[in-house]
Amino acid sequence: MKTIAIANQKGGCGKTTTAVNLSACLAQRGCRVLLVDLDPQAHATLGVGIDPYKLEESVYDVLLKPDRSVQDIVRRTEVKNLWVAPSNILLSGADIELVNRMGRERVLEEVFSNVTTLYDYVIIDCAPSLSLLTVNAMNFVQEILIPIQAHYYAMEGMKQLFSTIDEVKKRLNPDLKILGILLTMVDTRTNICREVVRGVRDYFQDKVFKTEIHINVKLTEAPSAGKPITVYDPCSVGAKEYEDLASEVLGVEKEVPRETTTAPQGETVFHGEEAV
Ligand SMILES: Nc1ncnc2c1ncn2[C@@H]1O[C@H](COP(=O)(O)OP(=O)(O)OP(=O)(O)O)[C@@H](O)[C@H]1O
Ligand SMILES: [Mg+2]
Repeated sequence: MKTIAIANQKGGCGKTTTAVNLSACLAQRGCRVLLVDLDPQAHATLGVGIDPYKLEESVYDVLLKPDRSVQDIVRRTEVKNLWVAPSNILLSGADIELVNRMGRERVLEEVFSNVTTLYDYVIIDCAPSLSLLTVNAMNFVQEILIPIQAHYYAMEGMKQLFSTIDEVKKRLNPDLKILGILLTMVDTRTNICREVVRGVRDYFQDKVFKTEIHINVKLTEAPSAGKPITVYDPCSVGAKEYEDLASEVLGVEKEVPRETTTAPQGETVFHGEEAV
């Protein structure tokens, strides 16, 4: 089983969009995927069509109640091979409630230890903070995927993120690796965006995924329908780009050609110079 946390304490940089759509792409290729929503905002839960307000139990219950197990809360999604461990607002109290727990950074690892044979991938959508829950995710996973929004403040907070990762490696999870840095919401029409993309690539070199996720309105619409992009609009540029990301994550050099890779008419796609 591979375990990946999608983390960056910066808000709105594309963590949830990446967690939901990468999970769906991997599942559609036949991997059994568990998407874990570790954010009280519950956007990943909503993104796969589950209403967090109607949940009887969530990740919160598994973390806080010793008699509850992960399989009690896992829900099937509309995508074959994709399950979700949903979140709800109660999770916002978990950090404080876990603070006095012995081994508080290892709670997530403990509760997920008995599902390792059930899934090929566990993908965790982290909240925009370096909280105890995020540290739990970093302790549990093998790899971290860091989405960076390609705009002026892209690198802000990176130092703090990397020092937290180093600290986790030193004290908790020595094998923790960076799977890659993903440039998101790229708008190549603007000079500043192109500069940021170049800057991030120069700085992080081969740690940056070749795939870039461009600004694509379909990616903003899909969550309101409670569907991953590959279900909501499989022909969109956003779907194609998350498919490419899945190929990189799987280590497949080239994606099997899709029947249609062009955006349907009327779609707002800011993709490269041709959109100008
Ligand atoms: N490539 C994209 N093109 C257009 N909109 C996008 C794209 N990626 C994400 N968005 C939109 O940007 C907003 C923030 O994205 P998302 O929720 O994935 O970020 P996040 O890092 O999970 O946020 P938070 O830190 O609050 O958890 C959402 O409204 C999402 O639909
Ligand atoms: Mg999010």
